[in-house]
Amino acid sequence: MTPSLEVRGLAYAYPDGTQALYGVDVTIGRGERVALLGPNGAGKTTLVLHLNGILHGGLGEVRVGGLAVDPKDKKSLREIRRRVGIVFQDPDDQLFMPTVREDVAFGPANLGMRGAELDGRVESALARVGMLEVAGRPPQHLSFGQRRRVAVATVLAMEPEILVLDEPSSNLDPASRRELAEILLGLDVTVLMVTHDMPYAAQLCPRSLILSGGVIAADAPTADLLTDEDLLRAHRLELPFGFDPAAARR
Ligand SMILES: Nc1ncnc2c1ncn2[C@@H]1O[C@H](COP(=O)(O)OP(=O)(O)OP(=O)(O)O)[C@@H](O)[C@H]1O
Ligand SMILES: [Mg+2]
Repeated sequence: MTPSLEVRGLAYAYPDGTQALYGVDVTIGRGERVALLGPNGAGKTTLVLHLNGILHGGLGEVRVGGLAVDPKDKKSLREIRRRVGIVFQDPDDQLFMPTVREDVAFGPANLGMRGAELDGRVESALARVGMLEVAGRPPQHLSFGQRRRVAVATVLAMEPEILVLDEPSSNLDPASRRELAEILLGLDVTVLMVTHDMPYAAQLCPRSLILSGGVIAADAPTADLLTDEDLLRAHRLELPFGFDPAAARR
């Protein structure tokens, strides 16, 4: 089966000369849930921004469901942007319409979807994140946790090949954090989740990557990574007080 994501030899320097990625190789199979861990400045967001061609121009290649990300080919880039659903850290970066319904409809409508088909797509995306009842409200009137869920719905409405979440649990209260975990566990989609929340990685992702200094420093079952104290220390990763990573082993 074609993997959802293949990254080969990806290297990238920002225009000011800062080298952020030094040759990243990652393959994620269809239906996998993978956490992307790593200290501040490791290159996680830089990697994510390559997955749908927002950043490009370095070395290496990215394929999504077998299709190469080619920023020069506008038609294939549209398809890549449908296949890669990125939920940004700040939901306000992706919600801008007068109502929640219009925000969720925006992407599929852009693809030409109309009428009952569009309505059905919007309702099912909102239902999957438990936000159907706020469909008619302005996104700005929702709580932060509700807006994050709606942001997930905007991406699900595109029926992506891979759902990429940048810090999904940040700024959520414990109940919202748990509810989002339940939603993500219930989705039948490939997930790549950038997070500093180790218990979240342990709960949601059987496999984790450590990106450190622009290279993949580890790629293993999450419980193995989180119980390797030397590895964690080497990459400035710390477990929260009282959290037992061995409990994550099933
Ligand atoms: N626009 C930019 N111009 C120049 N350098 C940048 C730019 N954005 C990021 N960098 C640099 O690239 C490197 C990787 O940054 P990146 O934002 O990808 O890290 P990150 O792993 O997402 O960190 P965090 O956990 O803090 O979000 C860092 O050295 C950072 O300073
Ligand atoms: Mg980042």
